[in-house]
Amino acid sequence: MFQPSPWRADFPAIAALQRQHQTYLDSAATTQKPQALIDALSHYYGHGAANVHRAQHLPGALATQAFEATRDKLARWLNAADAQQIVFTHGATSALNLLAYGLEPHFEAGDEIAISALEHHANLLPWQQLAQRRGLRLVVLPLNEHGCIDLDHALQLIGPRTRLVALSQLSNVLGTWQPLAALLSHARAQGALSVVDGAQGIVHGRHDMQQLGCDFYVFSSHKLYGPDGVGVLYGRVQAQALLRHWQYGGEMVQLADYQSASFRPAPLGFEAGTPPIASIIALGATLDYLASLDANAVANHEASLHQHLLRGLADRDGIRVLASPQAALASFVVDGVHNADIAHLLTEQGIAVRAGHHCAMPLLKGMQLEGAIRVSLGLYNDSDDLQRFFDALDQGLELLR
Ligand code: ALA
Repeated sequence: MFQPSPWRADFPAIAALQRQHQTYLDSAATTQKPQALIDALSHYYGHGAANVHRAQHLPGALATQAFEATRDKLARWLNAADAQQIVFTHGATSALNLLAYGLEPHFEAGDEIAISALEHHANLLPWQQLAQRRGLRLVVLPLNEHGCIDLDHALQLIGPRTRLVALSQLSNVLGTWQPLAALLSHARAQGALSVVDGAQGIVHGRHDMQQLGCDFYVFSSHKLYGPDGVGVLYGRVQAQALLRHWQYGGEMVQLADYQSASFRPAPLGFEAGTPPIASIIALGATLDYLASLDANAVANHEASLHQHLLRGLADRDGIRVLASPQAALASFVVDGVHNADIAHLLTEQGIAVRAGHHCAMPLLKGMQLEGAIRVSLGLYNDSDDLQRFFDALDQGLELLR
């Protein structure tokens, strides 16, 4: 039965892509954008750009107001107690690098950092490099057969030497939610700081920072239907105060002399230079758009398309879905066929999916895989998109086998 998306027309690029015979099933990499975002960008550039937090003039005041309104909206979106807990960065990756650099002075040789076996490179490499610089031990929490962190094992590995845990909320390869509540409360009891990589998780459902109980949470705007070039770093106030400043320049400074300077606290102390003003204002418009949708309808639509995807893959011989995906994506391999060959044939038929290691090489290596095909869904996808994908897959497999 045809399952339409009630929100498809809100995303003009979907129709444009269809005119180019493209079916977009790569939303975990980046999303298409709602008209509300495009209107906000066009309004800002069409009505007068101005820098923020600097100028007395009217355009400057309006830009600052709209810019700070996004910070307020993000605080509400995340249920942060205060908008000052939201720092703008250039993406989730830059937020994670900021954290690894900013927290560095608090580590001593022999301390441990715990990550999981499924981390994206963005939540592995900054910690790995920090560990190398400071003589720390990087502890890798293993997974169970469903593709989730093995809780019993993990609780044993997070101990008094653990100074920080950095964990993904939702795997970008396996589509599995991680048991964060238990892990974070255990980490806290051990006196460890916690960082949650929400790059994929933020897109599905609403996440309450006060309930989640992490010290830091990061995500990228572009995966949440917003503009690229903007990241969000939420921090608990006491945890923010631990961060050393990382980039120096305009607006992050309190007082400057030739030989010395003092710096502002978060958030502005971590937003040196001119930020991506238009994009941050447009992220605010995107959040308004998302907040206007019926959250239950979105969740039901995503869950039902996801079931359709999983059923279709399960019905085909020789296809192995990785782990037990719980949200909006599935990665798979085909017996005896290289993932790059499948990707090539899908691409030729206008199906946009991602193939390869998905920026999680150690995870794929641990599964004895060179790569996998990943299909990921956005709220604009409908069942016809999946049908086109399955038709293309069947044709491709017929040629390859
Ligand atoms: N992290 C993004 C992905 O998983 C780019 O595709």
